[in-house]
Amino acid sequence: MTEHWTPASWRKKPAKHLPTDYPDQAALAGVEQTLRGMPPLVFAGEARRLKSLLGDVAAGKAFLLQGGDCAESFKEFHADNIRDTFRLILQMAVVLTFAGGKPVVKVGRMAGQFAKPRSAATETIEGVELPSYRGDIINGMDFDAASRVPDPQRLLQAYGQSASTLNLLRAFAGGGYADLYNIHRWTLGFVADSPQGAKYRELSEKISEALTFMAAIGVTPESQPDLHRVEFFTSHEALLLGFEEAMTRVDSTSGEWYDTSAHLVWIGERTRDLDGAHVEYFRGIRNPIGVKCGPTMEPDDLLRLMETLNPRDEPGRLTLYGRFGADKIAARLPRLLDATKRSGRTVVWAIDPMHGNTLTATNGYKTRPFDRILSEVKSFVEIAKAEGVHPGGVHLEMTGQNVTECLGGARALTEGDLADRYHTHCDPRLNGEQALELAFLVAEKLKEERIEAALRAAV
Ligand code: PEP
Ligand code: CO
Repeated sequence: MTEHWTPASWRKKPAKHLPTDYPDQAALAGVEQTLRGMPPLVFAGEARRLKSLLGDVAAGKAFLLQGGDCAESFKEFHADNIRDTFRLILQMAVVLTFAGGKPVVKVGRMAGQFAKPRSAATETIEGVELPSYRGDIINGMDFDAASRVPDPQRLLQAYGQSASTLNLLRAFAGGGYADLYNIHRWTLGFVADSPQGAKYRELSEKISEALTFMAAIGVTPESQPDLHRVEFFTSHEALLLGFEEAMTRVDSTSGEWYDTSAHLVWIGERTRDLDGAHVEYFRGIRNPIGVKCGPTMEPDDLLRLMETLNPRDEPGRLTLYGRFGADKIAARLPRLLDATKRSGRTVVWAIDPMHGNTLTATNGYKTRPFDRILSEVKSFVEIAKAEGVHPGGVHLEMTGQNVTECLGGARALTEGDLADRYHTHCDPRLNGEQALELAFLVAEKLKEERIEAALRAAV
């Protein structure tokens, strides 16, 4: 029999990647208590709306675009950064919608993506060993002993930053910025002069023509207010369970529990043990949730996770993100797709082409080659098609900023370029130009699929 769930029942289970070295446990408990009294960041009704849109993705009727920083940071917190990533997502969504002929569900890795699982508990530089940096919600990135001590006040700062970020995102999404009639203005400064910028301008002209045509036949912003705004959702890896527990509230309309720290939360590759604390927490919340599926995931493990996390087989509840690496996806993904398909259960299958394609450059920078990222996405679409599964979406680490963190792309960034603007607080992100280029290339692939499907339907 399933044991009774509470927002705190995860505390009795083995937990991985949670900090255990807070010097003052009472201070941590005090901060969590303060957070319990803070307003929710999102509402249950919004999370349900995203779940229903993801249900459309599961049914093959829509596509998921999820992206943002690997780790948000207190230092890079700025309205311009939020705006730039937001408009990059809008641009990419336009490109993908146009090619795929399906609505794109837009989800930011934003307004709460602060806690990081780390492969090693400590970091050694020139003979000095310190605890690893675990994300700004836990400790500081500076390599000194004081900064690496977990500080409970950081939970409050992360909450405050998430609230301000979400406030701005809501204003952008509903306050006119995301108006489809502004499509020309979404172009990012530094992308404007690139081939991607030119391609985007061409596309936005086509869309503007279509809008003029629609207005002529009576589809105007007055009759269709949705042309003036977008639906935009937030997400993060719910790793730091003490924080998530404090943000978990009963929804007064349904009487069910929701994690009100984001619309969608996911379980990382390193914390998806069936009997672990993270799965325990996630099984009781009603948000749409995700699980990362890496090369060690076996079909049986996946089926058990699906049973525990989505026992009612609710459409849109569960999104699976494959993250195998360009060289492993062909060997690992088909068995998992086959298992989910044969189970008859509803899931969204998406691809995270970032986390299996990380390498260390000869000059020591952690980086990712654009070609491998693209290759994993293309393989994903092809394998899904061969298995008769909808390739439901992409999950990317990216920023609207002009950083130099991933290799390649149209400007052929080299190892020597990495040092120029390497700002990430954790993993390397696609910059605005690389992300838009990826969107165009994925769009071509989706268009091929769409045309092939239409031809199949016609015979
Ligand atoms: C992440 O999404 O930043 C992450 C740590 O991914 P994964 O759990 O897939 O390694
Ligand atoms: Co990452």
